[in-house]
Amino acid sequence: MEHKGFTLWFTGLSGSGKSVIADTVAEELKKTGMKVERLDGDIVRKSLTKDLGFTEEDRNMNIERVTFVAKLLTRNGVAVLCSFISPYNKIRAYSRKEIGDYILVYVKCSLEVCEQRDPKGMYKKARAGEIKNFTGIDHPFEEPDNPNIIIETDKQTIKECKNTILISLKKMGYLPN
Ligand code: ADX
Repeated sequence: MEHKGFTLWFTGLSGSGKSVIADTVAEELKKTGMKVERLDGDIVRKSLTKDLGFTEEDRNMNIERVTFVAKLLTRNGVAVLCSFISPYNKIRAYSRKEIGDYILVYVKCSLEVCEQRDPKGMYKKARAGEIKNFTGIDHPFEEPDNPNIIIETDKQTIKECKNTILISLKKMGYLPN
């Protein structure tokens, strides 16, 4: 059977666990025989969007370009997993409209926990004023107004988060039962 393509879009604060959860779900999806592709902020920003910074305008441009790629892959039957802070509702709505088969996953985690984890030491730098416009510190993160799935990485295990997503994909008809 031909699989229908879709984009799973992970939004959340830096350190919320977007990349880890997306990687874990990607591995599961590969087992179904689907073609799977990952687009991740830290990687894409070294290539496709390396000219961009973190102003509102640049973040929107970052997401616009990634949306273009995700759209092409999705319509060719690929399962695309995008992990980007993508902090604004307006640009998330744009991605949904462009891609069509778009499933928004809100990777919810309190700022306190993200800041404790601080895997790249960036919150520390942002608090010290060494990094400007840092999401959650001196730049906004709008809670998604219509996520399809919410996972709470400060309350659930990675496995629980993964299962929540896989069950939702089955319910939505993107994965066989
Ligand atoms: S987005 O806002 O445009 O969606 P994106 O997900 O691509 O952001 O990139 C976020 C990553 O860039 C973070 O994981 C972090 O490593 C790095 N980064 C560098 N500066 C900032 C900043 N000012 N705010 C947020 N993340 C930053």
